[in-house]
Amino acid sequence: MKRLIPLLLAVLLASCGSNQTPTATPFEYTDTIVLVQPDLSEGLTINQALALRASSREYSAEALSLEQLSGVMWAAAGINRPESKHLTAPSAMALYPIRVYAFTPEGVYRYDEMSHTLQRVVEGDHRELSAAQEFAYTAPLNLVYIADMSRYEGLNLTPAKAEFLAGQDAAGYAENVNLYAAGHNLKAITRGSLKSAEVLTLLDLEKGHTVVLAQTVGK
Ligand SMILES: Cc1cc2nc3c(=O)[nH]c(=O)nc-3n(C[C@H](O)[C@H](O)[C@H](O)COP(=O)(O)O)c2cc1C
Repeated sequence: MKRLIPLLLAVLLASCGSNQTPTATPFEYTDTIVLVQPDLSEGLTINQALALRASSREYSAEALSLEQLSGVMWAAAGINRPESKHLTAPSAMALYPIRVYAFTPEGVYRYDEMSHTLQRVVEGDHRELSAAQEFAYTAPLNLVYIADMSRYEGLNLTPAKAEFLAGQDAAGYAENVNLYAAGHNLKAITRGSLKSAEVLTLLDLEKGHTVVLAQTVGK
């Protein structure tokens, strides 16, 4: 019964939301994935998403649609105020040190918020580096949040304080994604476990960068 309650809640809440079936366009893993703008009229309300948010550790290999992938990236780090170029997530001192990398079955992509695109930086399936738990190795999307620590230079911060602030920034990005997922019938989990050193080597970011957090998103 305890397990049935979230399911019943999900069905009930989904029936309260928009009754339009969201568009689900498949996409190819090309070098540049041009993401679509979010449809602000669909998805559950923020309160409904809050009621459903939970960490998931079971995923199918099924790919996200282009709309879902786009929505996840926009929730993580999309520009929501073009005039200031500020993002959906807050950032201490508006320094935005976090880079978001998407580990997919066909490459690692860096999210470019200015063009709302994913740019492939490494070919191949490297999802096992982005996690330390098997459920993530076959999930369609693993995000890795990496801080460019040079953003804190000249601010007279201790390294510990800079790492703390980067962690807080990344947690905001990840929680945006958790709530987006809960509101769009997707699963997600924030993860601290991944192969950080190998990820930095793969991405050629050993100098001046710190792996802060990871996250799995899927169905
Ligand atoms: C910073 C952070 C790191 C986490 N790392 C992991 C992880 O590596 N593996 C994992 O299975 N869960 C991880 N979790 C998920 C927590 O275990 C989970 O949030 C907690 O058990 C509460 O469950 P709930 O999210 O469903 O409410 C992490 C959560 C946070 C906030």
